[in-house]
Amino acid sequence: MRVLIYVLFIIICFFGCKQPEKEVEHIVKEELVYDMYQPSEMANLMNEMYAQNLKVKEDILNGIVPEKFPLDFLKIHSAELSEFKSRNETFQSFSKLFIESEKEIFNTNSTIPVEERYNNTINLCISCHQTECTGPIPRIKKLLIK
Ligand code: HEC
Repeated sequence: MRVLIYVLFIIICFFGCKQPEKEVEHIVKEELVYDMYQPSEMANLMNEMYAQNLKVKEDILNGIVPEKFPLDFLKIHSAELSEFKSRNETFQSFSKLFIESEKEIFNTNSTIPVEERYNNTINLCISCHQTECTGPIPRIKKLLIK
């Protein structure tokens, strides 16, 4: 009988002590996941598009005619989104409109002033963002030529 109680005591203690240890492990794991956060392919592309359009804006303001459409932008049709976002129909039609408009900036035969073509494109960045990802809008607005 004594031995049995002793064994029971050890078992209870073993499981009792195991629990907090597991919790600690869990917390450590969560922090690791947080630290290893990687921006999605789409987020990287967006930041690249931001930088490229800022350069286009500077060129236009300096009277340099933008001539070469950055082909990388076409990745908007395929780049992987963050897990919680989906490539729905709205997203697809906005990305199509956006690419067509961005291409127009580099159309040297266009009769529409380049500032206008550029601003139309930035407004499309903003329109798409209004549908699902409003965070960066104030930043994108800074790209507009006043
Ligand atoms: C077709 C819709 C669409 C268009 C057009 C679009 N965006 Fe985005 N943008 C998104 C979505 C969706 C995300 C979130 C991506 C993710 O988290 O995977 C995003 C994210 C961003 C981010 C944040 C990236 C980060 O580090 O998290 C910036 C900045 C951004 N876009 C700028 C722009 C600019 C500048 C343009 C135009 C040149 C533009 N976007 C055009 C949908 C769009």
